[in-house]
Amino acid sequence: MAKKENQISRRSFLKVARHLLWIPVIFAIGRAIKTNSTAKTIKIPLPQNEGISFHQGAIIVKEGKDIRVLSSKCTHLGCSIKKNEGEVLVCGCHGSRYSKSGEVLTGPAVDPLASLSYQIKGAQLWITTD
Ligand code: FES
Repeated sequence: MAKKENQISRRSFLKVARHLLWIPVIFAIGRAIKTNSTAKTIKIPLPQNEGISFHQGAIIVKEGKDIRVLSSKCTHLGCSIKKNEGEVLVCGCHGSRYSKSGEVLTGPAVDPLASLSYQIKGAQLWITTD
């Protein structure tokens, strides 16, 4: 009698364990869906003048015909960078400073600003933000 109870118990355990194996898969799918759903595209007029400009989560750096698009999200704690001092991008929260290519000049941030992908469509810049 006791042996049969152990067999049922083992079978139940394996049944539960089999279902638990799906948890990481479900989390991975959820994360993938969430990652895709937070990305958005902003459309701004193609910058005509050289220099740095700030737009809805993106920093545009135009030099000659070259355009670089950086995320305005500071890599320290995520504040939005909205200010530059000459060619230096400055985070107003804790003072991290970045070059116009996104490299950290002074912390507390240690990682560079993310580059954002963009497309030029007619007279507009289509930027995919994170
Ligand atoms: S969030 Fe930018 S320096 Fe802290």
